[in-house]
Amino acid sequence: DEAERTERIEAALDELGDDVVILGHNYQRREIVEHSDFIGDSYQLSKEAANADADYVIFGGVTFMAESADIITADDQTVILPSMEASCPMAGMAEALQVDTAWAEITEAAPDANIIPITYMNSYADLKAFCAEQGGLVCTSSNAHKAFEYGFDQGDKVLFLPDKHLGENTAHRLDMEDSIVEWDPWDPEGATAEEAAAADIILWDGYCQVHERFRESHITELREERPDANVVVHPECRREVVEAADVVGSTSTICETVENADPGDTWAIGTEIHLANHLDRWHPEVEVLPLCGDACMDCNAMRQIDPNYLTWVLEELVEGRERNVIEVAPGEKELAQLALDRMLEI
Ligand code: 13P
Ligand code: SF4
Repeated sequence: DEAERTERIEAALDELGDDVVILGHNYQRREIVEHSDFIGDSYQLSKEAANADADYVIFGGVTFMAESADIITADDQTVILPSMEASCPMAGMAEALQVDTAWAEITEAAPDANIIPITYMNSYADLKAFCAEQGGLVCTSSNAHKAFEYGFDQGDKVLFLPDKHLGENTAHRLDMEDSIVEWDPWDPEGATAEEAAAADIILWDGYCQVHERFRESHITELREERPDANVVVHPECRREVVEAADVVGSTSTICETVENADPGDTWAIGTEIHLANHLDRWHPEVEVLPLCGDACMDCNAMRQIDPNYLTWVLEELVEGRERNVIEVAPGEKELAQLALDRMLEI
């Protein structure tokens, strides 16, 4: 049961002392965030990983986040992901090999253009490495606009991967919505490489299956029922959802919005359900509602980090066994680091 498991986790942590730090993404289950030394969005956690001096970084999150932690931490630090099944489907929508083929097509279609590829943090290390090689960088939802500005400073077009919604929302933020195109090189009915290359902002056809489920109608219905409610959503939501919301931002912005709310205010949360539940527990003075009920906005990938797995990796470490180590291949690691460093510089 939970009490017994908590005892086992605490005993293992006592044994391991400063050798271990646990990082927990805002979407992790309650039992994981309760044991985390730091809780935050993907950008904050990558910074915490960079500052950590523990030998072992246990990552409560998904594979791409653990990979980024491995890239950022020192060579003698080890990153452990309690479940190897925790893979963000959106990151899998832009495989480096696919992007390589698409890149050859689009650069051939626009030989005189200088296209800068920008990948969202939600991508694998080989794609981050590819972007660095082509003069591009990584961004998160909190600095995508700055990454686009960097792209237009260094080149004349941006290819943004994998999240088309974050890309579109960022283009709007920069008043550049008139020159965007969605491009799936394998869609015979979609834009051709030549058509894509004519736009300033080329959006890869990826999306988050959790955030895509939010609809504008969820907000309009809520406003009819609860005219006093405010709405905050993640920029991975569709454009019309973002437009209908009061505030849009990364998971840390969502946390700050509720933290800074006046007692008695009502906020509906348009993001993964675990964060809405945490905010409800953390801020009893604010009325926190999940946008669209509480049934369907659950991230399967994040949920793979079961507290039993956390117990297992910790107890194995106590026995001197490293389980589920995330290690980015040398070569790829340096390039991916360059893409992340460019982000940290902007
Ligand atoms: P944040 O960077 O806002 O934490 O988002 C990560 C993520 O996976 C959102 O779905
Ligand atoms: Fe990936 Fe969406 Fe889950 Fe975030 S919420 S980890 S983008 S599937």
